[in-house]
Amino acid sequence: MKIGILTSGGDCPGLNAVVRAIVRKADHLGFETFGIYNGWEGIFDESYKQLTLDSVSGIIDRGGTILGTSRFSPFMQENGKDTLLHKVARSGFDTLICIGGEGSMHVAQLAYEAGVKIIGVPKTIDNDIYGTDYTFGFDTAVQIATDAIGRLHTTAESHHRVMVLEVMGRNAGWIALYSGIAGGADVVIIPEKKTKINDVIEVLKSRYRRGKAFSIIVVAEGAHFLEDEMKISDDEMKVYKGKDDFGRIRLGGIGQFLADEIERRSGFTTRATILGYVQRGGVPSAFDRILGTRYGVHAVEMVRDDKFGRMCALKSNKIIDITLAEAISQLKTVDLDIYEVAQVFFK
Ligand code: F6P
Repeated sequence: MKIGILTSGGDCPGLNAVVRAIVRKADHLGFETFGIYNGWEGIFDESYKQLTLDSVSGIIDRGGTILGTSRFSPFMQENGKDTLLHKVARSGFDTLICIGGEGSMHVAQLAYEAGVKIIGVPKTIDNDIYGTDYTFGFDTAVQIATDAIGRLHTTAESHHRVMVLEVMGRNAGWIALYSGIAGGADVVIIPEKKTKINDVIEVLKSRYRRGKAFSIIVVAEGAHFLEDEMKISDDEMKVYKGKDDFGRIRLGGIGQFLADEIERRSGFTTRATILGYVQRGGVPSAFDRILGTRYGVHAVEMVRDDKFGRMCALKSNKIIDITLAEAISQLKTVDLDIYEVAQVFFK
C-alpha cells in the first residue's frame, strides 16, 4: 500500500504532527508513505519523495509544513481533472491523504468524485470546518491572539487609547471570540453578527464614563458592519485585495477602517494592529500536537479500512470520520451561545 500525503492551503501549527503520525502509523501497518510537495501542485509536477521514520523525526514541535503548501487547485487548471487522474495513476499511489482547510476539502471531494481514493484531515486556524468540534491550529492561534491582547492592554491603558486588534477568520469569528473572551476584550466583532459602529462607540463611551479611558476591540478580518453604517465600498475600505488561487477574496484591513471610523466619530484616540500571519506561525500548542497526532493515526486506520471520500473529525473528544460531502456542505460558524458569553463583558 502506497500512501501519498499532501498539505494544502494556508499553513497551520500542527501540520507536521499529522505528517509524523501518518508515517509512524503507516510503518506499523507495513504501508509506504510519500510526501507530495506543495499541495496539489506536487501531483501535477510529480514532485514527491518517500518518507521514512527518519524524515519525520523531531518535527512534532515545528510550525509550518515540511512538505510545503499551496492553494493550487487541479480543477482550476485546463484539463485539470484528466491531468489529475493521469498523474495520480503515474505516481503509483493507492491513496492520498489531503491535510487541508475548507477549500482543500472541496478539492478532495472533487478528486474523490473523479475516482481518486482520498481521505481528508481538517486543518485551519479559523476552526470553521463543519462536522468537527475543532481543527488543529486553532488552539495555537487563539493563544497567540490572547497574548497579543495582553500586550496591547498595557499600551491602551498607559496612553488612554482604544486599541483595535484584527485577527483572522474569513467566514467565522472563532479566533476573535475565543481570544476576546480569554484576553478580556471590551468588544468582539465577528462575521456572524453584523455590528453597528455607533453601538461599539456607545460601549467605549460608557466605559469612559466609568473612568476607563482605554478599551480593547477584537475584530475578525471577515466582519461586516450594518449597511446603513457602511457608506463605503469594500474597495474603498481596502478590504478587497484580489483573489487567492482557490478563487477566494483576500481579506485584511477591516481593523484600520474600524479604528479610523471610531476616531472620526468619537474623538477617542484609536490605533489598529493587524495580527496577520503571526497567528499561523511558530510552535504548535500541546493541544494542536495531540489533535494532529490523533487525526494522523486515524487517517491511516481509514486507509486500512477502505474508508475513502471521508474526513477525520473530532466529536465529543472522540476521533470519528464523516463524508467529505458532509464536511463541505456548510461552514461551522460561531456558536452564538458563546458569543452571548462575550457580550456580558461589552460594557
Ligand atoms: O484560511 C485561513 C486563513 O488564515 C484565513 O483566515 C485568511 O483569510 C487566509 O488564511 C489568508 O491566507 P493567505 O494569505 O495565505 O492566502
